Amino acid sequence: MSILRYHQYNLALFFFNAHMSTPMNKILILFAHPALDKSRVHRRLIRAVPDLPGITVNDLYDAYPDFDIDVAREQGLLAAHDLIILQHPFYWYSTPAIIKQWEDLVLEHGWAYGSQGAALRGKRLLSLITTGGAAAAYRHEGYNRFTVRELLAPIEQTAYLCGMEYLPPYLIQGTHRMDEDEIELEVGRYRQLLALLHAGRIDLDAARGQPSLNPSFDRAISQEVPT
Ligand SMILES: Cc1cc2nc3c(=O)[nH]c(=O)nc-3n(C[C@H](O)[C@H](O)[C@H](O)COP(=O)(O)O)c2cc1C
Repeated sequence: MSILRYHQYNLALFFFNAHMSTPMNKILILFAHPALDKSRVHRRLIRAVPDLPGITVNDLYDAYPDFDIDVAREQGLLAAHDLIILQHPFYWYSTPAIIKQWEDLVLEHGWAYGSQGAALRGKRLLSLITTGGAAAAYRHEGYNRFTVRELLAPIEQTAYLCGMEYLPPYLIQGTHRMDEDEIELEVGRYRQLLALLHAGRIDLDAARGQPSLNPSFDRAISQEVPT
């Protein structure tokens, strides 16, 4: 392929990808880590966000150390964003406790669900999770017997009840055995993921029903125009 052809090809892919899904102009990261000072992975991930466009970080343990959640503030933040990311380490096959408290208080009947509750309708929800266990352990024949997506069924059903589109979770797995270089690699991928979600360049239709968003993200990266 000549160089000109190569660039034409990439330009075509760029426009194809650019229309792949609706851009998500406003992304809210609901971040929950109860011991950030001991964190190896999330501390690095969350520090890598600030200069990215269109992203708000809401650090729940920082904002509510006593679990005294400001419902009006949280509902206001949700209303102002298109994509809500629940970012946390996997704790006992689920979320850290504050996310449950947040759900119990913020997702009110008549606001989030019920015949009058339409505030979240049409928004998207994505879990972004690190697991100490390796990917191979989260298979039916593996040590943990369920996929991460299956274990997250209560979140998926909550999103459904609120009229949100549930995206398959983005997974960073095997964190127990990750060395510094591998963590840095994940930080780079995380920044790319947020940028591609923001630009609407991940094929979310193809991801629907999949165990994780990772393959669709990998495909989107491989189709990016080299700079
Ligand atoms: C209380 C607690 C529960 C955990 N439960 C799980 C679990 O169910 N499955 C798993 O794969 N890892 C589990 N882990 C490991 C964490 O998910 C892992 O250490 C974390 O994702 C790494 O991120 P960090 O360095 O930001 O803390 C657990 C860790 C703690 C402290």
